[in-house]
Amino acid sequence: MLAEPIQIGKKIAPNRIVNQPMECNDADEIGNPTEQSLARYRKLAEGGAGIIFVEALTITRESRARKNQLGIYEKTARSLEKLIREMKAINSESLILMQITHSGRQSGASFSRVVSAYPTGEADVHVLATGEIDEIGNEFTRAAVIAKEVGADGIDFKHCHGYFCAELLRPANTRKDRFGGSFENRIRFFAETASKIKSAVGKSSFLLGVRFSFYEGIIGGFGAAGPEEVIEDLSEPLALARLVEKIGCDYINVSAGIPAITPEIVRPSKNYPEGVYRHFGWARAIKKILSIPVIGSGYSYLKEGNNDLKDADPKKRSFKHWAEKNLAEGTCDMVGLGRQSLADPLFAKKILSGRISEVNYCLTCGGCSILLRSQAQVGCVVYDEYYKKILKEVQKRKGI
Ligand SMILES: Cc1cc2nc3c(=O)[nH]c(=O)nc-3n(C[C@H](O)[C@H](O)[C@H](O)COP(=O)(O)O)c2cc1C
Ligand code: SF4
Repeated sequence: MLAEPIQIGKKIAPNRIVNQPMECNDADEIGNPTEQSLARYRKLAEGGAGIIFVEALTITRESRARKNQLGIYEKTARSLEKLIREMKAINSESLILMQITHSGRQSGASFSRVVSAYPTGEADVHVLATGEIDEIGNEFTRAAVIAKEVGADGIDFKHCHGYFCAELLRPANTRKDRFGGSFENRIRFFAETASKIKSAVGKSSFLLGVRFSFYEGIIGGFGAAGPEEVIEDLSEPLALARLVEKIGCDYINVSAGIPAITPEIVRPSKNYPEGVYRHFGWARAIKKILSIPVIGSGYSYLKEGNNDLKDADPKKRSFKHWAEKNLAEGTCDMVGLGRQSLADPLFAKKILSGRISEVNYCLTCGGCSILLRSQAQVGCVVYDEYYKKILKEVQKRKGI
């Protein structure tokens, strides 16, 4: 089933493997992709996954979490066009979707503007006024139009991992205006902006999808029942998923957690192997109630079965086993790989052509996350000497 094409909106993804968005912090000082970024995406294009997400692109310079984050605004449009052109020249079949984001509270204090969607009691964090939130909605819309103009197949409207749009969704968002308090108010930004984006890109085949963290694992986080609650309660995430479909989005990408606070929820590893099952469960809960395609996350830890899951048969612990099983049983429609896409950008091609023994499996060692947290250029520190060297420099700087 991994090799089967699937319809997403009015387009066709050639197979069921997804390269999840992976920020690599290697843009130039304006936010343009550098040769380093272009080379990464050329490799992914060669890899031939059904969907290739271009990592979180900041919609303004002042809303970035990484110093060298790729940006999507007028000044970067031409270089983004080049990026898509180069990818499509290598592979015209994979769908290329750009993830667009505003980092909110996670914007870097020393090079960006830290803003919050709701008051948190910290005096130095600016809480956005209603008009400022409206303007952010306009900036998302402008970014979506640019993505269309530069030739992307669509955009992913980022609502996961604790960034600005995710903040707004939380029960902890007790703003007193139309963007806070009731569930209806907390989803208003998404609903209004998604509609604006849809009318701005016009009646075309350009895709609009969303990536959500269905359970954040913090008090008052999304997926909890109230501002003081933390126990998982999926009523709001499921209601939001229904809205995503009703508004006319083309797919939903299921993630969870906040990397800066609850990383083990986002990225299953040997510290919490069963986290993969939670990801499967979240995807299945959504899949049961929606008819648009559902992309699942958290697959990198599985590898060829060399992991700490408790099934005695290594084959039944592997990526291949779980991907085929989840697709066959309707747990999800596509399987997303984050770290595995860094470890081996040709993963899809190798798996689909039966060259499994050639795969460089991600060891879920956490090296790439250390690079990201350290504001260094990001890549796989196991299989790529260039990034191995950067990690050593980072560790030396930090005295590790
Ligand atoms: C270095 C790094 C960068 C990431 N960048 C993004 C990003 O730009 N957008 C996003 O939605 N998720 C991002 N993620 C999360 C991944 O897409 C993915 O959800 C996570 O790694 C879990 O999937 P995996 O187990 O397949 O790695 C990033 C993760 C890592 C480790
Ligand atoms: S650095 Fe480690 S976790 Fe990151 S992609 Fe490479 S092997 Fe996987």
